[in-house]
Amino acid sequence: MERLRAELRRHEHLYYVLDAPEISDAAYDGLMRRLQELERLHPGLPVPPDSPTRRVGGAPREGFVKVRHSAPMLSLDNALNEGELADFDRRVRELLGGEEFIYTAELKLDGLSMAVHYEDGLLARAITRGDGEVGEDVTENARTIRTLPLRVPGGRRRFEVRGEVMMTRRAFEKLNAECEAQGLKTYANPRNSAAGSLRVLDPSITAARQMEFFAYFLLEDGQPAADSQWKALKELRGMGFKVNPNVDHCAGIDELTRYCREWGERRDSLPYEIDGVVAKVDQVEQQRRLGWTSKAPRWAIAYKFAAQQSETVVERIDVQVGRTGVLTPVARLRPVVVGGVTVSNATLHNEEEIARLDVAEGDEVVVERSGDVIPKVVEVKTRPRTRRLFEMPKDCPVCGSEVVRAEGEVARRCVNSSCPARLKESLLHFSARPVMDIDGLGEKIVDQLVDGGMVKSVADLYGLGWERLADLERMGEKSARKLVESIDGSRRKPLERVIAGLGIPFVGERTAQLLAAALGGMDALAQADEARLQAVEEVGPKVAQSIRRFFEEPHNRELVERLRAAGLQFISEAPGRMGIGPLAGMTFVLTGTLPNLTREAAKEMIEAAGGKVTGSVSKKTSVVVAGAEAGSKLDKARDLGIEVWDESRMLDKIGAGRNE
Ligand code: IVH
Repeated sequence: MERLRAELRRHEHLYYVLDAPEISDAAYDGLMRRLQELERLHPGLPVPPDSPTRRVGGAPREGFVKVRHSAPMLSLDNALNEGELADFDRRVRELLGGEEFIYTAELKLDGLSMAVHYEDGLLARAITRGDGEVGEDVTENARTIRTLPLRVPGGRRRFEVRGEVMMTRRAFEKLNAECEAQGLKTYANPRNSAAGSLRVLDPSITAARQMEFFAYFLLEDGQPAADSQWKALKELRGMGFKVNPNVDHCAGIDELTRYCREWGERRDSLPYEIDGVVAKVDQVEQQRRLGWTSKAPRWAIAYKFAAQQSETVVERIDVQVGRTGVLTPVARLRPVVVGGVTVSNATLHNEEEIARLDVAEGDEVVVERSGDVIPKVVEVKTRPRTRRLFEMPKDCPVCGSEVVRAEGEVARRCVNSSCPARLKESLLHFSARPVMDIDGLGEKIVDQLVDGGMVKSVADLYGLGWERLADLERMGEKSARKLVESIDGSRRKPLERVIAGLGIPFVGERTAQLLAAALGGMDALAQADEARLQAVEEVGPKVAQSIRRFFEEPHNRELVERLRAAGLQFISEAPGRMGIGPLAGMTFVLTGTLPNLTREAAKEMIEAAGGKVTGSVSKKTSVVVAGAEAGSKLDKARDLGIEVWDESRMLDKIGAGRNE
């Protein structure tokens, strides 16, 4: 078995890292199956954590634990053109007082950064960037990335590698084709699909997604482990990591500019997306002297390429009605490849934008795609002699209701809150991955559900049976059952997702999280006045007013009640559920009267410290906090040998955590 493992590891490295396979895929699969078989037949022999069979993905998980980075994962300052790049170079030269130095120039890979820790030569933990200070533990998913070694033989025992998780354009297009065939939502670009694939709860999904990891930093105790960036890359390559081969040493701004120009022109020839160049002062000793600002190192810069543009023709201008009823003109384009991705629609935002561009059907235009924003029309190249000028419809193009333009707003809205277009958008929003994550509810299915009258409100989703769904186009019994299962499963999604799902204007995922944590329940949210709402972190007058208006609308109150009846989560699990705080991962039961704190206050404090409070004592209880006249719960805790704290002990624990 060990021989097979070594053999498989060698072939993985040849295939995934060096792009130089020695055996066919079928032969590789054969070796893998043989190893799986042997491991199955010998349950007495432990399967080591770096066995290639461990790449296929373990059991799905409940959520991700938050972990603090060894040193912050900061981002880089940007140079948006060659002038800004030269400014950066000048600053570096000045700060180094005329001393000689060189740059290591690397491609700026357009994925998401990740930190991977190795202990005793074994992959121990992989953490997403998160907010730069705290990321999420995605170890099980990262293990399935074939270009990430599970074991690194050699000198260093404890080290950290930082790099970029990527999806090739090909893997991205294949994934989107699969999503589309199954009626699922597609991803906007390879970076989003890589991010989505890394953060799925089921590692076997990550495993199937063909992700890559390019290493670009080698750290020990949060500090650079080699004395130059160039050497670090070389060492990483020697350790078996995939390092992007297109790196260069540049001896000054001229060489650096040339490198940037060259890759700006060649970027489409790469199988993955890049959005610029990263230049780093090579010597770590010089990096140390240059130091950091609060946001970014002074020794590196990200030179961003200009957005990619192509020319095409506007075949038609359609008007779409969004979730909040806003009418948005959309240019239907003759399909054109922009930076390696086919684009056939571009937003025109609103009628003022159309007037500004002076664009009409039949015009030849320049379209642009930058980062993950929706493609947009930036300029008209040629206009045919006779043109039909675009006019915003006076009635909703979908339901025919009146369209109004609120004072001071550019946007026009359909006034009908049950307009099918709005309902469709609401359903898509509600079921989106970061919201209620209902798999299988793509556009084609939503269209049929709404047009066929099966769904008149988001709450109707919870009454759908698979038998009726199976009759829809693109559905069969199997996918219908799966959809119902997925809808069922969404009942367990936490309160913040339900809040986000309501589609309250200005309440996105993050605001929903803050609201759920601060108010603890849907009823508290629905009843809170504007002052209470504004006391919540990041909630200002505009958001507070929007929330109030939402809950004053009888339609919306009815929707909320129906969602309650459907069994959705209306109580926050625990604000500290994030897995951070001194009491993270612990379950508490409160009993008796505490000397200073009310039961409610104690509960809130425990939750704020990351703990969970439940009502009854069981084997799963970590600690019982007991006050005066504690009764049977305290007895039960003693029976089960569960730790008992008094109030001051509890406060100590929470306080100690705060000072850490
Ligand atoms: S160095 C403080 N090197 O670009 C050091 N970053 O704005 C920062 N990126 O968050 C990272 N390719 O996700 C570095 N060769 C490369 C990179 C790279 C892509 C990303 C990375 C980072 C962002 C910096």
